[in-house]
Amino acid sequence: MKKVRIGIIGAGKIAERLHLPGYKDVAEAEVVAICDLKKNKADRLAAMFKIPAVYTDYKKMIKEAGIDAVSVCTPNYLHAEMAIFAANNKKKVLVEKPMSISIPAMKAMIAAAKKNKVLLMVEQSQRFDAAHQALKEILDSGVLGKFVSVRGKIGHSGPEYWSDDSPWFFDKKSSGGGVSVDVGIHILDLIRYVTGRDVKSVAATMANLVKKQYKLEDSVEAVINFKDGTMGVFSTSWCTNPYEQTITVYGNKGRATVWHGGTEGGKRFSGWYVDVKKPYSGNNEIKLTIPEKPKTGGPIQHFVNCCQGKAKCISDGTSGMKSMAVMLAAFKSAKSKKFEKITV
Ligand SMILES: NC(=O)c1ccc[n+]([C@@H]2O[C@H](COP(=O)([O-])OP(=O)(O)OC[C@H]3O[C@@H](n4cnc5c(N)ncnc54)[C@H](O)[C@@H]3O)[C@@H](O)[C@H]2O)c1
Repeated sequence: MKKVRIGIIGAGKIAERLHLPGYKDVAEAEVVAICDLKKNKADRLAAMFKIPAVYTDYKKMIKEAGIDAVSVCTPNYLHAEMAIFAANNKKKVLVEKPMSISIPAMKAMIAAAKKNKVLLMVEQSQRFDAAHQALKEILDSGVLGKFVSVRGKIGHSGPEYWSDDSPWFFDKKSSGGGVSVDVGIHILDLIRYVTGRDVKSVAATMANLVKKQYKLEDSVEAVINFKDGTMGVFSTSWCTNPYEQTITVYGNKGRATVWHGGTEGGKRFSGWYVDVKKPYSGNNEIKLTIPEKPKTGGPIQHFVNCCQGKAKCISDGTSGMKSMAVMLAAFKSAKSKKFEKITV
């Protein structure tokens, strides 16, 4: 089968750390062009990853570089216009999280992809973690009994420790918000993925507790109601050190947790456990090892598989919009101090 020809828009950190190494590992794809407003950044990654063509204008790249698909790796406020332009030029789109920063923009992205019959995938990376996929299988299998609730937490020290050249993370017009849209979207989307449920309403409290200079929320605690009456809580923070990411699902017969977090000597810790409870007679703990690879392959492998019609997308535009819509409602709730309904 013909290789999928990729153009990268945005030669920043996520392109360097996830997309380009990802495509390098996928035999069915080749990155043929890269674009950044800052030519030196595009040149640098082009040299590192042996990419033949460099552009500073993404529209020119989409029109001229002979590509089949794009990876949109730019600041959040640019995702919609770039994805829509690519779709209107019949290119398949992989767009970084958060999908975009407003509901009309996300609807327009979905409509453009639909009209042009092209794939629109949102790179919600937590869905492509082997342990998270296994957690979903455990919950779906029914071994935990009837699903009741979920708790999720994700936090790290903030984007300034990820990139020293990305002030846009702290500019609300460019990012759409603080930790909620940067990191919180990961745990919220993971909760939606693992439980397979849509959120009906959310109540959130948000604060700027540490990063006063940025004037954006750095800490969030929230409660969610799913459409079927089950519920959950999630928490996200830019003031968590060391890094932590934990999700626990509770059924009436057991619970299961996956955690990633903490480092020692530069090594990250991960683990998971499943307890199937026998009331009054102790727990039957099932010890499992984390599978080495996600069943879908990583996000880039999955995108390429979907481009070639070999897989059904597990993170499409509608799903990306539903996750981001919860975050947008959480902002409203933090102001109104009430539960806010999700409208998509
Ligand atoms: N999946 C994850 O875990 C994860 C992690 C980090 C970032 N991200 C997402 O990836 C996206 C990019 O984040 P990043 O950390 O790589 O940021 P970054 O600042 O390192 O990179 C963004 C790049 O886009 C370029 N750019 C800006 N405007 C442009 C334009 N008009 N045309 C072409 N290039 C342009 C910038 O010059 C910069 O090089 C964001 O949406 C972010 O939320 C996802």
